[in-house]
Order: sequence, then C-alpha cells, then structure tokens
Amino acid sequence: MPRVVVTRRLPEGGLDPLVAAGVELITNDADEPRSKAELCAAAADTDALMCVLSDRIDADVLAAGTGRLHVVATVSVGYDNIDLATAAAHDIAVCNTPGVLDDTTADLAFLLILAASRLAGDAERDLRSGRWAGWGITQYLGQDVHGATLGLVGYGRIGQAVARRASGFGMQVRHHARHNTGVPGYVADLDQLLAESDVVSLHVPLTDDTRHLLDAHRLALLKPTAVLVNTARGPVVDEEALAVALESDSLFAAGLDVFEREPAVHPRLLAAPRTVLLPHIGSASHATRTQMAQLAAKGVLAVLAGRRPTNLVTTAPGGNSA
Ligand code: DGY
Repeated sequence: MPRVVVTRRLPEGGLDPLVAAGVELITNDADEPRSKAELCAAAADTDALMCVLSDRIDADVLAAGTGRLHVVATVSVGYDNIDLATAAAHDIAVCNTPGVLDDTTADLAFLLILAASRLAGDAERDLRSGRWAGWGITQYLGQDVHGATLGLVGYGRIGQAVARRASGFGMQVRHHARHNTGVPGYVADLDQLLAESDVVSLHVPLTDDTRHLLDAHRLALLKPTAVLVNTARGPVVDEEALAVALESDSLFAAGLDVFEREPAVHPRLLAAPRTVLLPHIGSASHATRTQMAQLAAKGVLAVLAGRRPTNLVTTAPGGNSA
C-alpha cells in the first residue's frame, strides 16, 4: 500500500480521495510549518508528499526522497516553493492546484482594489482606535473605482477572473502578458501599462524574471493617484521601494495579500499610509481550500497509479499561470 505524507493540517474533506483509495496516510494535525529536517525525513520514507506553499521542497528534501518518492503535490497553484529542476532530475512528479481557486482569489483581489482605492484600511484603523472624531466632508477621500483603468499584469486564469469583475464595476480593463493574448486590451509594453493605469493588479507567478518586477524604477512609472494590488507573490514587488513610494505620496495606495518574506512584513510597509494588508488569504474559503486539497490528492493518486494527472506541473520554471 503506498504511503502519502501530508505536511500540514488540511481542510476537512481535503484528503477524502486518499482515504477512499485506501492509501497509508501520515497526517500532521499541527497547523505549523515543518522544519527542513522533518521534511527530509518525511520525503525519505514515503511514496508521495502533499505540502503547502510555505514548505520549501528544495534540492535537499528531494534528494532525501530519491528512490521511493514519486510525487510532490503542493496545495497551491503557485509552485515556487518546489525546486522543479531537481524534482525532474530525480524523476519526481510535481502537481499543483490550477483552476479551482481562480474566482475566490479574484474576489479577494477585487476586495483589495476596492478597499485600497477607498482607503478602507486607514478609515477602519482610525475608527477602531478611537481616532475618528466624527464625520467630515474632506475625510478619507479615495479614488473612484468605477470609470478607472485597471491594468492587469499577467493574464492567466486569475487575471481573467479579475477582468470579469472589473467590467461589472465599470472599469476599463487592459492587460500585459509575456505573449500577445490576442484579447482586446492587450498592451505589449509593461511600462506603458503601468504608466497609464489607475489601478494595477499583479497576477504573475514568482520566477527569476518576475522577482522585483515592480522595483523602484517601475513603481516610479505609476501615477501618483494609482493603486497597486498584489495577490500573486510578495517578491514580485520590492517592498521597501513600495513603502518609500507610499511615504512620499508618489503612489496613492496599496492592497497586498502577499509579502516578500512571509510571515514577516517590512516594517516600513506596516507603517506606510494608505495600505490594506492581508495575511495571504487569497484562496481562503472553505469550499476552495477543500477543493484545492482534493485536487492535489487526486494528482498524487494519478501518479501513484501510473497515470498522468490533469494538474501535473509540466512547464519549465517560470511558466505557471497564477
Ligand atoms: C496559491 O495557491 O498559490 C495561493 O497563493 C494560495 O492559495
């Protein structure tokens, strides 16, 4: 009977496919990250590893699994936590969870677009801390979302789901992607998109090419009235440069669900004005997180049965469509 090690507590029902298949399941009731030594020990003694995005499945963990480990399935659409090249070299399949979290993540991106544009974070913080002295006609003046131009950086499934919501809110939607999408609104030049958008929302995976894609130079291209939203991966934005832009009023507001060094958040960003900061909850609904776990589990079962899973990560590093 194949053994499957699950690194972290998963939503109820998430492991149902594995239970139904009768595999030997080694679960972890704790909702805490496992140490590297624990991950190596787990990999060494299992046929499959189900992990989450905060588990770093690096060359050492994969090397520990050599011989027995056939598949690593991450319960996330992003797979920058896994060393794909080493996994391929050891003939270890990698699965992720594409498709099932698009709408839930797009909902959260839209929440951040609205909340950051309308300064909901500052306003709520003032109210809760007793700093709100009463209604004032010049208080908390934000930027209108309706009629604004939304620039999507990345146009995979989640970016497209955000585009659908934006149209309903009366926004003009444009997008940039590495290849011409052929869809109206495509802008080949990223810098042009950044300079012409009122709201910029990031939907690219984290790769060597996208690390600090929004650095100080590109942040300076944004309009002083612009709003930046990131639900993709923290390192896509230079957090310190973003804090400087907010402090110096060269950027209106930011809504962030992801950070460069989670769970740490840059202290200047924590103190920066006009921010809405969330703890990486883009896909966090009961239904979606359960579906993600089940999809990862199905990937494991397919690989163990010698079948090609629908959620096999096949692209070279840098190719996912989060
Ligand atoms: C992912 O799946 O990659 C998100 O960041 C968390 O759901």
